[in-house]
Amino acid sequence: MSKTEPVAVVTGAARGIGAATARLFNQNGYRVALVDILPEVNELAAELSASGPECLGLVCDVSDESAVKSAVTQTLAAFGTIDVLVNNAGVVLVAAVEDINYERFKQVFNINVGGTFLFCKYVLPVLKAKREGAIVNMASVSAHVGQIDHSTYGATKGAIMAFSRALAWEVANDNIRVNSISPGSVDTPMLRGDIEIESGKTGLPFEQVKTLREAEQAFKRWADPMEIAEVIYFLASSKASFMTGVDVLVDCGWVAK
Ligand SMILES: NC(=O)c1ccc[n+]([C@@H]2O[C@H](COP(=O)([O-])OP(=O)(O)OC[C@H]3O[C@@H](n4cnc5c(N)ncnc54)[C@H](O)[C@@H]3O)[C@@H](O)[C@H]2O)c1
Repeated sequence: MSKTEPVAVVTGAARGIGAATARLFNQNGYRVALVDILPEVNELAAELSASGPECLGLVCDVSDESAVKSAVTQTLAAFGTIDVLVNNAGVVLVAAVEDINYERFKQVFNINVGGTFLFCKYVLPVLKAKREGAIVNMASVSAHVGQIDHSTYGATKGAIMAFSRALAWEVANDNIRVNSISPGSVDTPMLRGDIEIESGKTGLPFEQVKTLREAEQAFKRWADPMEIAEVIYFLASSKASFMTGVDVLVDCGWVAK
């Protein structure tokens, strides 16, 4: 394989939106460093490497600074450069404020916001040295609408949007673009877990809660992860060369209602 192929780092790449994103970048000729706390990320990296440009699986907790530093070092050792960073790894927390343990609150912030900060911190010197690059950070419709039992989660996503806006201005003179994306409901293990919690709490059957959540989208369905990956890919590509500091809602009309 040619070493001129561009390189993307995708966090939370073992499953869901991150896995679809890693797959799409790879199908479009990228070498991809797939980062996840789950070891399954190595299997996906091997699968992608078998049919496309070389990929690297990196088991890493995005909230652990030394692990993030090491993941970036390993990516550079394997591929020599980084062109795109997709900060997608995240966890949801579905609970009423008074039921949330403060340690768990801080942990969710450390993963969602801290992980985004840490990967930016260690990848930016590479992009700045090249005077080129794109970062896409994962926010959520939860940063735009009030959702019962999603206060902490929504706050992390709002923080990611604010972080992305400010960083876009901070690195604009280095020719680096920073945007965020806010999906509505996407059919992934995270959302299905979310629905199970709500179903348990309300006593409503899973399918009924699912139908209610589908109704938030104008097309009355959830997105396929690849429909989100396509927008991430666009934002990272030169086709989005005049886009920085923006949050792109991919929510099928939820906020427009
Ligand atoms: N599914 C949705 O409806 C939806 C909507 C809006 C935003 N999002 C966001 O999209 C992103 C991906 O979500 P998803 O739905 O694919 O969820 P998912 O749970 O299916 O995938 C998330 C991935 O992140 C990984 N991860 C979690 N904690 C980690 C950590 N500390 N270090 C490294 N990896 C870690 C998980 O192992 C998993 O592979 C998340 O940031 C989520 O908040 C999801």
